[in-house]
Amino acid sequence: MSISELQAFISRYKIELEKRLPPFLESLNCPFSLKEAILYSINAGGKRVRPLLMLAAIQSYRSIKESDYKVACAVEMVHTYSLIHDDLPSMDDDDYRRGKPTNHKVFGEAFAVLAGDALLTKAFEVISSINELDANIKIALIRELAKAAGAEGMVGGQAADLDGEGKDLSIEELEYIHRHKTGDLLSFSIVAGGILGEAPNADMECIRAFSRELGLVFQIKDDILDIEGDSEEMGKAAGSDEGRGKSTYPRLLTLGGAKEKLFLHADNAKEYLRSLSGNPLLLENFVHYITERSK
Ligand code: IPE
Ligand code: IPE
Ligand code: MG
Ligand code: MG
Ligand code: MG
Repeated sequence: MSISELQAFISRYKIELEKRLPPFLESLNCPFSLKEAILYSINAGGKRVRPLLMLAAIQSYRSIKESDYKVACAVEMVHTYSLIHDDLPSMDDDDYRRGKPTNHKVFGEAFAVLAGDALLTKAFEVISSINELDANIKIALIRELAKAAGAEGMVGGQAADLDGEGKDLSIEELEYIHRHKTGDLLSFSIVAGGILGEAPNADMECIRAFSRELGLVFQIKDDILDIEGDSEEMGKAAGSDEGRGKSTYPRLLTLGGAKEKLFLHADNAKEYLRSLSGNPLLLENFVHYITERSK
């Protein structure tokens, strides 16, 4: 397996995901104005990293089945909701996302809030409605997703991120923010892949530890890209963190120090993969993809 084989996996499964994701929302029986706001952000693209990681984790144990895509679509709905709300004027106040004006710039704040609410709740409906899945597995997935997205997960991380604006946080405080605002949902994606792939219990511990490290890697790289990245390529404005007085890895540790941490946590992540009984080559290549990405 090489990076180009991972690229082939990404290209193939991104298409499969993007075929299946919009219909869940196109079929909503709701005001057209709300549906339009939801579909705008869902169809704006994005890397689809979380659902792809889920499918890669499943493929470490077995081949992908139709019902897997439903859980993968659900996590992308929760992620897209988090981006719509993250960009609101009351949060990061950003104007550009996924190469387009942010949701609230087009539909107004109220509809951006509601589009986010609708995506979050739809995700749970989708998982709970998968007939092919055993009820205990569905409950496990719902519990994991609720915890990852809620006050002890992403929402808590977002709150700490906002509380920290304009303050000099310690690296421990910043790590808490990153692990929760970004790490927990990314981690859910991989853990859910392990659950769906019926990874042995002994593997699940390593999968969880791997996913936590990769979640942190993802946000450290996001901080680095906020300085080094190209706005056009990323589809969102660089320099947003500095403008908001956010603590970031580069601000606390310098750009070089942030990159050291990036590679340290990436190495930790890869180390956890070593003891898996499945075939984690795709996941290992994802570590490279995430550390090297330019968007
Ligand atoms: C951006 O996530 C927000 C963070 C959690 C850092 P992505 O970088 O995955 O954004 P998209 O989905 O590709 O637009
Ligand atoms: C976003 O972190 C985390 C969530 C959306 C939950 P950022 O605020 O750094 O993400 P970007 O840079 O706006 O994509
Ligand atoms: Mg933010
Ligand atoms: Mg933001
Ligand atoms: Mg950012």
